[in-house]
Amino acid sequence: MTRFSLIALALSASLLSSTAFAQQPTPLLAQACAGCHGQSGEGEGAIARIAGYDREAFVKIWQEFRENSRPATIMNRIAPGYTDEEVQILADYFASIQ
Ligand code: HEC
Repeated sequence: MTRFSLIALALSASLLSSTAFAQQPTPLLAQACAGCHGQSGEGEGAIARIAGYDREAFVKIWQEFRENSRPATIMNRIAPGYTDEEVQILADYFASIQ
């Protein structure tokens, strides 16, 4: 192995681990969504994909679920259980993944 490829290898390894680290922030909060929206928010059956969801749209829709002003069967019962801070964390997390 040349010296160059060793460096390239080391670089890509550290890139990989920093990406994995960046996606760490909310596994616990987001776990609560996985049962319905899929392990990575990819959506399942009739249930919407939420991975890559626009951050602002997420916060707005969450507010509508909370106020019961958006048609919902389930999310209107789930949404009030989260603080504003938790909603921000969820919005950041789902916006950050694909
Ligand atoms: C028990 C199943 C269930 C769980 C758990 C659940 N959802 Fe949902 N989600 C739904 C359903 C069903 C809808 C469609 C609206 C409705 O009927 O409530 C929905 C809709 C949504 C939408 C709107 C999608 C759109 O474009 O209309 C968002 C955003 C969302 N959920 C986020 C979350 C997040 C974040 C969590 C975890 C904190 C979560 N959901 C947990 C079932 C679930």
